[in-house]
Amino acid sequence: MKRTIRDLKNIKGKKILLRCDFNVPLDHWGDILNDNRIFQELPTLQYLTEQGARVIVCSHLGRPKGYDKFLSLFPVAVYLMKYFPNKVKFIGKVVGKEVEKAANELKDGEILVIENLRFCEGEEKNDPKFVAELGKLADIYVNDAFGTTHRKHASTYGVALKKPNAIGFLIEKELKAFDTAFQKTDKPFVVMLGGAKVSDKIALLENCVEKADTIIIGGGMAYTFLQALGQNIGDSIVSLDMIDDAQRILQKAKENNVKVVLPVDHIALLQNGKVIKTTELSAGMTALDIGPKTIKLFQKEIASAKRIMWNGPLGKYEDPRFRKGTMKMVKAVAKSGAYSVVGGGDSVSAVQASGYADKINHLSTGGGASLKLMEGKVLPAIEVIDTL
Ligand code: 3PG
Repeated sequence: MKRTIRDLKNIKGKKILLRCDFNVPLDHWGDILNDNRIFQELPTLQYLTEQGARVIVCSHLGRPKGYDKFLSLFPVAVYLMKYFPNKVKFIGKVVGKEVEKAANELKDGEILVIENLRFCEGEEKNDPKFVAELGKLADIYVNDAFGTTHRKHASTYGVALKKPNAIGFLIEKELKAFDTAFQKTDKPFVVMLGGAKVSDKIALLENCVEKADTIIIGGGMAYTFLQALGQNIGDSIVSLDMIDDAQRILQKAKENNVKVVLPVDHIALLQNGKVIKTTELSAGMTALDIGPKTIKLFQKEIASAKRIMWNGPLGKYEDPRFRKGTMKMVKAVAKSGAYSVVGGGDSVSAVQASGYADKINHLSTGGGASLKLMEGKVLPAIEVIDTL
């Protein structure tokens, strides 16, 4: 068991470097378009500040190459000010004397938000010099940036090696949810996958084909599987270099008695811009969503599930014309009564937009990190935290 913030004793007056994942979408005005990741961090911040810790909050935002005024963490600090009035300060620097001074001037229960970690070259390189500078800011290190636990960066890995450390409530919650979905024994365990690229999901399929009872495959990636089965997929997206992998997965599923459920009809875009429903795909047709028969087929599998893990939209979710399949699946998962975990940006957005979020057991804040967990991989930023 990893040490959590509950296990840290006597933290009143201690400086805690809290690594968060506040990599949130912003518009040009600096307005936060989806606050889920910040909102989910509030319990940890609440706890640490109530205990009288002095919290130095750090995060990355986007993938800047050096300083980028559109990727400042200032809007995040402003957001936090609403929840912690008169307790939040912001400094437009990441490390150095001024930041150390600001950290040293914090009073018990106050929060200092420092600037985007990725403005510094040393962050992604896990550079020892940068690790040392970050380390100077605090007495204790806490990681609660679940979405970044697959990265071996200075703030997620290097600094954890140098300080007494722990995980926060969000990481604890995420790990518990994925563990529950994998470890519970009630069946059937249904894994539903979507998204455009098969390559992103191969490792996950390799793991799930050993653990699931049923694997539902939709989205762009389904067409590589349909092609692997010799079906005509028209002009739909296909990863030709993954056909062998798809065949191997299908073979393994057969050997392990795992049911693989693929689309049987489609919503397709024609070259003239018309959108049609079809069971047969041919040249000039690009399938971009699952059709009504497939919706029924998938709904049936989901309705009987006892555990569901879902990652990736079932169609081209960003285009409202091809969103129906994904939205129907949200409803099906919500109504199934199964223990449900949803990860991945678009599938989580679909759940949030549906009004059914409270019917899903866990909505992961991690994209790549949740995929790694579903692959059964060890996350370096969690591995490095001390066990009890
Ligand atoms: C994410 O959004 O998946 C995390 O914040 C990690 O971001 P990154 O892929 O830029 O490291």
